[in-house]
Amino acid sequence: MRHLLDTRTLARADALRVLDVAEDMRDTQSREIRKLPTLRGKTVVNLFFEDSTRTRISFEAAAKRLSADVINFSAKGSSVSKGESLQDTAQTLQAMGADAVVIRHGASGAPQTLATSGWISAGVVNAGDGTHEHPTQALLDAFTIRKRFFGDDSRGRDLAGLKVTIVGDVLHSRVARSNVWLLSTLGAEVTLVAPPTLVPQDVSAWPVRIVYDLDEAIDGAPDAIMMLRIQLERMNAAYFPTEREYSRRWGLDAARLQRLPEGSIVMHPGPMNRGLEISADAADSPRSTVLEQVANGVSVRMAALYLLLAGERETTHAEEDAR
Ligand code: CP
Repeated sequence: MRHLLDTRTLARADALRVLDVAEDMRDTQSREIRKLPTLRGKTVVNLFFEDSTRTRISFEAAAKRLSADVINFSAKGSSVSKGESLQDTAQTLQAMGADAVVIRHGASGAPQTLATSGWISAGVVNAGDGTHEHPTQALLDAFTIRKRFFGDDSRGRDLAGLKVTIVGDVLHSRVARSNVWLLSTLGAEVTLVAPPTLVPQDVSAWPVRIVYDLDEAIDGAPDAIMMLRIQLERMNAAYFPTEREYSRRWGLDAARLQRLPEGSIVMHPGPMNRGLEISADAADSPRSTVLEQVANGVSVRMAALYLLLAGERETTHAEEDAR
């Protein structure tokens, strides 16, 4: 794998490869010494032009647990505020010896530009670009679903036969887009639920069913229900009458939680707007995988960095390290 830019073009075999290597990585994380020597001598740059808690820390932990050197760059407080371009910023970091660049950017397509412009030779991982994609989030979500439903028998399995319902601000959500493509590649049946104003115009071309009524979607007995954050910071218009009305019609509250099928799981990529798209009852219930998703994120990002930087050439050694 040269770059990880999206899930739309990620082949089923490559997606399963990331998930299976993440299983190996996860196994190493219960050991007394969690650090592997696999990426010793490699440098990973975390290039964040937008705020992040989970993704940035998770990539840092993943790189460090593989013994890579890590440089964290945040646009706030950098020369970006003096007008420095993405090209000059990236080339500056490349000059410091970056082997991989993990980039989060407000502009959809920025990671693709970085990977294909010839500005840098490092591998590029998309850590969220605008409203486009967030591939490692979708991979960690798929990993979490697979682990919850298949446990120790997860390796090599896809998600065929599982129903996943994604609810909320689909319009602004890169998490939703990456999940739609990846989950359908892995054979899951995907339903989107949103107010009509928060459904993207091109959704008819997506491999999904659209429902506007959350209660109707819950009647469809989803195995996993993924609540999306309402992205108030990206909204420049009124997409729903009030937050109270949104919560009443599209929020996962205690009553709807009760109506979910036994064994179903509640997911959220974080950060959560508690009381808006998800109630505390749902976020903190035993069905909730919110913190499992965070923990699995480290294993999935270890797998992504490993496949980018060590690749097939060292597969045998690295997998031996992981065992
Ligand atoms: N899920 C996610 O991308 O969270 P952060 O914005 O905190 O990285």
